[in-house]
Amino acid sequence: MRKLLSICLFLLLAHVITVKSLNPTLDDDVLGLIVFKADLQDPDGKLASWNEDDDSPCKWKGVRCNPRSNRVSDLVLDGFGLSGKMGRGLMQLKFLTKLSLAKNNLTGSIGVNLAQLASLRVIDLSGNGFSGPVPSNFFEQCGSLRSISLANNKFSGKIPDSLASCSSLGTLNFSSNQFSGLLPSGIWSLHGLRSLDLSDNLLEGEIPKEIEGLYNLREIRLRKNQFTGEVPDEIGACALLRSVDLSENSFSGALPTTLQQLSLCNNLNFHSNLFTGEVTEWIGELGRLQTVDLSNNMFSGAVPNAIGNILSLKALNISNNGFSGSLPASMVNCQNIESLDVSRNSLTGFLPTWVFQIGLQNILFSENKLTGSIYGALTSSIDISHQNLQVLDISHNALSGEIPSEIGSFTSLRFLNISKNALMGEIPETIGKLKALDFLDLSENQLNGSIPHEIGGATSLKDLILSRNSLDGNIPSSIGTCSSLTSLILSRNNLSGQIPVAMAKLSDLEYVDLSFNKLTGTLPKPLANLVHLVSFNVSHNQLQGELPAGAFFNTISPSSVAGNPTLCGAAVNKSCPAVLPKPIVLNPNSTGTDPETIPPTLTHKRILLSISALIAIGAAAFIVIGIIFITVLNLRVRSSMSRSAAAIPLSGGDFSSSPTTDTNSGKLVMFSGDPDFSTGAHALLNKDCELGRGGFGAVYRTVLGDGRSVAIKKLTVSSLVKSQEDFEREVKKLGKIHHPNLVALEGYYWTPSLQLLIYEFVSGGNLYKHLHEGEDEDGNRSSLTWNERFNIILGIAKSMAHLHQLNIIHYNLKSSNVLIDGLGEPKVADFGLARLLPMLDRYVLSSKIQSALGYMAPEFACKTVKITEKCDVYGFGVLVLEIVTGRRPVEYMEDDVVILCDMVRGALEEGRVDECIDQRLQGKFPAEEVIPVMKLGLICTSQVPSNRPDMAEVINILGLIKCPSSESQEEEESG
Ligand SMILES: *[C@@H]1O[C@H](CO)[C@@H](O)[C@H](O)[C@H]1NC(C)=O
Ligand SMILES: *[C@@H]1O[C@H](CO)[C@@H](O)[C@H](O)[C@H]1NC(C)=O
Ligand SMILES: *[C@@H]1O[C@H](CO)[C@@H](O)[C@H](O)[C@H]1NC(C)=O
Repeated sequence: MRKLLSICLFLLLAHVITVKSLNPTLDDDVLGLIVFKADLQDPDGKLASWNEDDDSPCKWKGVRCNPRSNRVSDLVLDGFGLSGKMGRGLMQLKFLTKLSLAKNNLTGSIGVNLAQLASLRVIDLSGNGFSGPVPSNFFEQCGSLRSISLANNKFSGKIPDSLASCSSLGTLNFSSNQFSGLLPSGIWSLHGLRSLDLSDNLLEGEIPKEIEGLYNLREIRLRKNQFTGEVPDEIGACALLRSVDLSENSFSGALPTTLQQLSLCNNLNFHSNLFTGEVTEWIGELGRLQTVDLSNNMFSGAVPNAIGNILSLKALNISNNGFSGSLPASMVNCQNIESLDVSRNSLTGFLPTWVFQIGLQNILFSENKLTGSIYGALTSSIDISHQNLQVLDISHNALSGEIPSEIGSFTSLRFLNISKNALMGEIPETIGKLKALDFLDLSENQLNGSIPHEIGGATSLKDLILSRNSLDGNIPSSIGTCSSLTSLILSRNNLSGQIPVAMAKLSDLEYVDLSFNKLTGTLPKPLANLVHLVSFNVSHNQLQGELPAGAFFNTISPSSVAGNPTLCGAAVNKSCPAVLPKPIVLNPNSTGTDPETIPPTLTHKRILLSISALIAIGAAAFIVIGIIFITVLNLRVRSSMSRSAAAIPLSGGDFSSSPTTDTNSGKLVMFSGDPDFSTGAHALLNKDCELGRGGFGAVYRTVLGDGRSVAIKKLTVSSLVKSQEDFEREVKKLGKIHHPNLVALEGYYWTPSLQLLIYEFVSGGNLYKHLHEGEDEDGNRSSLTWNERFNIILGIAKSMAHLHQLNIIHYNLKSSNVLIDGLGEPKVADFGLARLLPMLDRYVLSSKIQSALGYMAPEFACKTVKITEKCDVYGFGVLVLEIVTGRRPVEYMEDDVVILCDMVRGALEEGRVDECIDQRLQGKFPAEEVIPVMKLGLICTSQVPSNRPDMAEVINILGLIKCPSSESQEEEESG
C-alpha cells in the first residue's frame, strides 16, 4: 500500500516537472511581459521584479495568474509611474482577463488590438496620455468585454462603430477625451450597459428614442459635450437610472414628464443647457432625489409645490433661470437639505423664514426681487442650537430693515453677502463674533453709523466690502487684527479721521479702495510695506502730506490719489517741499551738524541776534522792575482774596442766568447759563472791591455754589475799553471760541469800575511751573516725558492755529499762560485780551501785554515792520525750545545773559545738540523727533516774520515729525 502511494507521488511530481519544462505557452507569458516591459520607462523601478530568467511571471509585481492554469490573468499596474508606449508584447498574454494601466504616463496611439484577446473582460487605460483615434476594428472581437475605460486621455476622432459588437459591455467610460462626431448608433443596443460616461468630449448629435434600449442603465453622463435636441420621452424606459447628467450641452425644449418614471433616481443634473418651459409637479414623484441642478437654463414659471415631497433632497440649484413667484412653503419639509441656490431668478415675496429653520448650510438668494425685512426671517431661527449656515447670499434684492444683531449667532458663517439691498441702521457689533467669516459684503445699502470696532473680531476675513453706504466715523484701528484681509473696499461713505497705521499690518492686502470719503491726515508711511498691493485707491478724500515712498507707492496711478488737494508726491505731480517751510530738515539721520541742514535764514543770525539780544536785555531791565511790582501786587491780591472768599455765602439762590442789570451790582453773564453762579458770586461781585492790580489782571480761584471751581480774572489794565457795549461785544466773541486747547471763557461781570472774566478752571497748573518749578518733597523737579512734551507742543500749535484762523492774535504766548489739565492736555489762556484795549499800539503791546521776557518777537522793536500773527509764531518757537530744553527763554548767569534760542542755535551748529536737550529726559527720547522739533522751534523764531511758518504748517510739520511707528505703539498701549 505504502509502495503504491510513493509510486503515485513520484508519477505526480514527474508529471509536474515535465509540464513545467515542456510547456512553451508558459514562456509566452514571460516573453510577452518582458517585451511589454522593454517598451516602457520605469523611473520608479516598479517592474524590477520582472526578470526574464524567471520560469514563471506569477510572482512578479502587478501580475496575477490563474491558480489552475498558471497563466497570467490580471495585469494591474495602476499608478506605477510608467511612461512609453503600450507594445505588442501584451498580445502574447492569451489568457489575460483584466488589463489595468490606469494613472500612468503612457503615450502614443493604441496600435494593438487588445479586444482580440479572447478572454479580456476589463480594460482600464484611464489617466494616461494616449492619443489619436481608436482603430476602427478595435472592438471587432470584444464579445467578452465587460468594462472599458479610456477616460482622461487624449483620444480623438469618432468612437468606432465596432463598439456595437461588445454585446456584454456593462461599463463604458470614455470621459475627458477629445472624441468628436456622432455616437455610433449601435451604442443604444448595448442592452447590458449599466454605466455610460461620455462626458467632457466634443460629441454631438441628439439622444435618439432608441435610448429605451438601455433599460439596464444605472448612470448616464453626457456632461460637457455638444449634444443638441430634446430629451426623448423614451428616457423614461431606463427605469433603473440613479443618476442623469446632461449638463453643459445644448439640449433644448422642455424636460419630458416621463422623467417621473425614474423613481430610483437620486441625481438630476441639467445645468447649463437651453431648456425652457416649466418644471411641473412630476418632479415630486422622484422621491429619492438628493441633488437637483437645473441652473443656467431658461426654465420659467413657479417652483412646483411638489418639491416639498422630496424629503431626501440635499441640494437644489435652480439659479439663473426665469422662475417666478415665491418659493413653495412646502419646502419646510425638506429637512435634509443643505444647499439651496435660487439666485438670479425673478422670485418675489418675503425672504421665507423656513430657510433659516431647516439647518441649511448654503442659502443663495441673490438677484431676485425679494422684499421685506430680513429681521423676522433671521431672528426666527436663533433658538436652533445647531447652526450650520456657512454661506448666506441675499444680495441684490429689495430687502429692507436693519441687520439684526442675531447674525452674530451664525457662528459657522464663512460668506455673508447682503449687498445691493435697501438695508438701514448700523452694522451690528456682533459681526465680530463671526470668527469663520472670510467674505463680508454689505455694500450698496443705506447703512449708517460707524464701522464697529468689533469688526476686528472677525479674524478670518479676507474680503471686507462696505462701499456705497453712509458710514461715518473712523476706520477702526482694530482692522489690524483681520490679518488675512486681501480686499478692503470702503469707498463712497462718509468715513473721516486718519487711515489707521494698523492697516500696514495687513500684509496680504491686495485691493484697497477708500476713495470718496472724508479721510484726513497723512498716509501712514508703513503702508509701503504692503508688498502684495495691486490697487490702493484713496482718491477724493482730504488726505495731506507726502505719499509713502517705496514699493507699490512708487508706481501708484495718479487717479488713485487724485482729489486730495494737499497730498503731495510724484504721483500727484506736486512736490512736497513746497508744503513744508523751506528750512526744516526732517532727515532723522541728521544731527544738525551738516551745514546744509541749517536753515539759510540763520546764516544772518549774528547781526539779527544782536538786535534780539539788545531787545531782550532792554526788556529784562523792564521786567525786573515789573516782577517786583507784580510780587507786591500778588501779596495784596492774596490777602484780599482770602477776605472776599470768606464773604461769599455759598448757599444757592435764584440768580438768573440771563443778563441782569442792576445799577448797584453791575451785570453778570454766564455764557453757559449756569444758574449756580449764584448769590455767592453776587455777593462777591457786589462788594465792588478791588482785588488787586497788575499787568493785565490778577486771577484767583473761587468755588461756585455747585462745588465747581472757576478762575476769575479781574482786569486791571487802566486803558480798557470804556463803553460797556464794546466790552460786551468783544467778550461775547471770545466766549464763543471753543477749542480743546484753549481755556474757555465762561462769563463776565461788568461795572464801570470793575470787569471780571470768568474762566474754566484748569487743575494742573501752568507749564512754567511744570518746566521750571515743579519740585516734589525730595527736591526733584517733576519731569514731563517726551511724549507729554510733544503733545503739549502740538496742543499749543493747534490752539494757535485755531485763533489765527479766527484772526485773533494772542500777543502774549508764554509758558505761564499755558495751563495743563488733569489729562496732561495743554490749554492756552489769556487769548484775545488785546481786543479789550481801545488801541493796539506797540507801547501797550510790549509793555502791558507782551510782558514776558524772551518771547517777544523782534519786530516789536522795529517800527517799520507790521506786527502780524507771526509774532505768536515767534513766541511759540521760544516755547518749543523751552519745552525741549527745560530752560527759561532768558537766563541770568553771574555775568552773562543766556538767550535760549541763540544757545540752541549755536549748539545745533556745533553739533552739541544733545547738551541742550532737557537732562530730565535722561536720554529717553527719540532723537529723530526731538531734533526736528528743535529745528522747528528755531524756524519759528526766525528774525524775519515771513520766514516763520504759519501755525497750520507747524501742525503739518509736527505730524510729519511724529514717527508713525511710535504713534502705533501708543495706539496699542492705549487700545
Ligand atoms: C509624462 O511624460 C512626459 C514625456 O515623457 C513628461 O514630460 C512628463 O513630465 C511625464 N509626466 C509625469 C506625471 O510623469
Ligand atoms: C470615468 O472615469 C473617470 C476617470 O477615471 C472617473 O472620474 C469617472 O467617475 C468615471 N465615470 C463613471 C461613471 O464611473
Ligand atoms: C538713515 O541711515 C540709514 C542707515 O545709515 C539708511 O539706511 C537710511 O536710508 C538713512 N535715511 C535717510 C532718510 O537718509
